[in-house]
Amino acid sequence: MSKKPLILGIESSCDETAASIITENKQGNPVVLSNIISSQIKIHKKFGGVVPELAARSHVDKIDLIVEKAVKESGKQIQELDAVASTAGPGLIVCLSVGLSFGKALASSLRKPFIAVNHLEGHALSPKINSELNYPYLVLLISGGHSQFLSVQGLGKYKRLGTTIDDALGEAFDKTAKLLGIEFPGGPQIEVLAKKGNPNKYNLPKPIFYKGGCNLSFAGLKTAILKITKDIKTQEEKFDLAASFQKTIEEILYKKTRIAFDAFEKINKLQKKTFVVAGGVAANNSIRSMLINLCKEKNYQSIFPPIEYCGDNAAMIAMVGLEKFKTKQFSDLDFPAKPRWPLDKDAIFLKGAGVKL
Ligand code: KG4
Ligand code: ZN
Repeated sequence: MSKKPLILGIESSCDETAASIITENKQGNPVVLSNIISSQIKIHKKFGGVVPELAARSHVDKIDLIVEKAVKESGKQIQELDAVASTAGPGLIVCLSVGLSFGKALASSLRKPFIAVNHLEGHALSPKINSELNYPYLVLLISGGHSQFLSVQGLGKYKRLGTTIDDALGEAFDKTAKLLGIEFPGGPQIEVLAKKGNPNKYNLPKPIFYKGGCNLSFAGLKTAILKITKDIKTQEEKFDLAASFQKTIEEILYKKTRIAFDAFEKINKLQKKTFVVAGGVAANNSIRSMLINLCKEKNYQSIFPPIEYCGDNAAMIAMVGLEKFKTKQFSDLDFPAKPRWPLDKDAIFLKGAGVKL
């Protein structure tokens, strides 16, 4: 039997330093041998958000230990690696540079191929770690930095159907949490508080609900919430606002996902349709159940990565590395860090004032 590929994945695009080793079983399905994540939440908490220079310094401090731990936990020797894959973008350039340089240096010293990975491709392919998933499929990627609907036609082949024209969904959760006095990153706490409140108490705006196809917008919500929080006095009112926010987000996603289904079906004629939800916000259970129900209604198979692969991790980077290794898509050692690296290079830039929908 030929040796199965053994790939190291490294992730340092934002505030998680992560390394993972992945291989395949006899059937050709991915097997994660180790998945180490070191979060910097403690460092950034007091600033209410990620401070790039501090994040980069912490990546530099930890990267070798994290990689060493990933190798040790995998039960393999570093010399056994077949390739090293690092996130090269999008993300904070000072952070990306750390994992990228480390990965290149390691690959070069081992005389093994280096593979540059797009972080968004990592999220989009993350369910492949645990589920059988055939191309094409529709993905809703909802994280702290991105919110988009993509038709995944194949490895490296993406058609963006919709994107946020302002804030990312995770950002909207975190900003709402901050306005409610919840510590960074407050997104997951909103879900908890929402369960205790009345979702119909506050009528929040739904920007571009009736236009813009399956593009998304969340900035108007933040402004509305800012106004409301000024008059909030009781804990109950806080719960009600969290519940109203959660409900509004679900209504927006329900409507926009239906539109995305239509757009996906226009370009893919399929018997079996699959909808994947990935990224940090995919960990939100209320959003999950709402989308699972929608999939039942519209005859889609729904796939969510397990919670540990929703947020930033290196297993998803190693996963893309594995796919690229098998198709010999290697990168040169001068591959640059790319703060902006859209998956669909033909999609028009849809951010900022004056965007026409
Ligand atoms: O994918 P991720 O770890 O990092 C990025 O690539 O951005 O996503 C992090 C985002 C944060 O904004 C966090 O608040 C949000 O995901 N998040 C959640 C939940 N868990 C994480 N938002 C809502 N509900 C959750 N349960
Ligand atoms: Zn991410």
